[in-house]
Amino acid sequence: MKIQLKIRRFNPETDKKPSWGKYEVEVEPTDRVLDALHYVKWYQDGTLTLRRSCAHGICGSDAVRINGRNRLACKVLIKDVGRKITVEPILGLPVVKDLVVDMQPFMDHYRSVMPYLINDEPPPVTERHQSIEERERFDDTTKCILCAACTTSCPSFWTMGQYVGPAAIVQAHRFIFDSRDRAGRERLNILAASDGVWRCRTIYNCTDACPRDIQVTQAIAEVKKEMLLNGL
Ligand code: SF4
Ligand code: F3S
Ligand code: FES
Repeated sequence: MKIQLKIRRFNPETDKKPSWGKYEVEVEPTDRVLDALHYVKWYQDGTLTLRRSCAHGICGSDAVRINGRNRLACKVLIKDVGRKITVEPILGLPVVKDLVVDMQPFMDHYRSVMPYLINDEPPPVTERHQSIEERERFDDTTKCILCAACTTSCPSFWTMGQYVGPAAIVQAHRFIFDSRDRAGRERLNILAASDGVWRCRTIYNCTDACPRDIQVTQAIAEVKKEMLLNGL
């Protein structure tokens, strides 16, 4: 089948403003949007710039807006989005070129919540034990691949880039509810700041955007509740 691809093009070094590149591509209905983008880059216009690595929904590097919704290009089948497909960079982060955005501000928010296990107590002779129930408490948020699809679909983040964003809260959740960690209170304090968790207005775009089906809004609500229980 033939499809019409409209791709947002922008090179900040040479262009005053973004423009639309229009391409006609022959694909199979079961091809992915990433395949169509590859076709354009490899056979029609080598200057098209996009980011991808694994091509199998693992690395999180090809989050883009497909027909107005944040998706991983390697996970969306052509047959599910129709013959006219619009592809744009994710919103709220500076465009480096075409579909590639600067992930630095996103990574800064990620780092700000201390996304690693903290426990200064002497380690036991074997490993730090955890029951099945304790592990299940944060199982959902361990699935995050840091693709930024959630944060860059959030209107609160669009209007205020300092908002730590749903991805960072998901990462904080993963450690706040880990029974082996001892820095939950510290993370809650960080998220209690004015650019923290209360910037979330429960809009749910993040949950819709997550390619790992993480219940992002639910995780944020659990962090908010924990904050209230801790008097923050
Ligand atoms: Fe991507 Fe989901 Fe992680 Fe957000 S929570 S960064 S959408 S995997
Ligand atoms: Fe934004 Fe998700 Fe909250 S879209 S406002 S972080 S529920
Ligand atoms: Fe790795 Fe799509 S290219 S997730």
